[in-house]
Amino acid sequence: MSDDLNYGEIYAPIYQEYTTVQGKVAEVDQTVGFLERYCSGGSALELGIGDGRVAVPLSGRGVKVEGIDNSCSMLELLAKRTDLIKAWQGDIAHFRTEQRYSMVYCVYFTFTLLFTREEQIACLRSAAAAIDDEGILVIELDVPSLDPRIRGQKTTTVRLVDHENTILNVAVHDPLNQNLISTLLWFSGTSVRRLPQRTRYVYHQELDTMAECVGLELAERWGDWARGAFTEGSNRHISVYRRSSRSPGIFRGKA
Ligand SMILES: C[S@@+](CC[C@H](N)C(=O)[O-])C[C@H]1O[C@@H](n2cnc3c(N)ncnc32)[C@H](O)[C@@H]1O
Repeated sequence: MSDDLNYGEIYAPIYQEYTTVQGKVAEVDQTVGFLERYCSGGSALELGIGDGRVAVPLSGRGVKVEGIDNSCSMLELLAKRTDLIKAWQGDIAHFRTEQRYSMVYCVYFTFTLLFTREEQIACLRSAAAAIDDEGILVIELDVPSLDPRIRGQKTTTVRLVDHENTILNVAVHDPLNQNLISTLLWFSGTSVRRLPQRTRYVYHQELDTMAECVGLELAERWGDWARGAFTEGSNRHISVYRRSSRSPGIFRGKA
């Protein structure tokens, strides 16, 4: 993928500041508390590990964490924070590991950065093959909000306003491919940063169907990292999949 659409290369220089402003650093204790239950004393693989926002504190709790990312700049940020986490450059849509993990996880909206259906299924297939027999796959995703999109192809959403920052998301909707081609405009002080990204939004039921295609089944779904209920008012979900009892072996098909 060219660097003009490589999320990690675009966001690495501002990632710490950006995730702090977005509240993603503040929520990390809860995220790690949630994840630790599934892999305590075991191992975990993070898909799109980034700068280690989640992986570093999870590793600090004694979990053997490894990670994959396709951005050299993100992997450099991670390496500056720790040498306890083995991480390698690769594509989360197509990976194989010799190692089997208690948990594979993909958080924030990383899964939607795979912007074709085929890549998303390939990622689930790779993940299913990487978990051990009792292992689980955890995926955090936003619930797509289509209200403004059905009224028009181009939307502007206010992501955040505080004393120092205004973040707007200007998106073009490609409904045929469920793609949002967007530019974040981040105004702070006198600077304006322009951050492009492309995502493929997925509803939770489509995610379940894709997971079933690779031999996984839904075990739990939560509305937040505090294990709140997933309801019609939820704006995100955390879905936990395990190997399907009905179709053992499907996941071992071609990757
Ligand atoms: C939204 S950030 C999340 C980082 C980290 N997981 C976190 O929660 O803070 C998405 C990460 O996934 C990486 N990424 C995006 N597409 C990828 C792909 N196809 N293969 C591997 N990594 C990818 C980006 O470089 C970036 O580090």
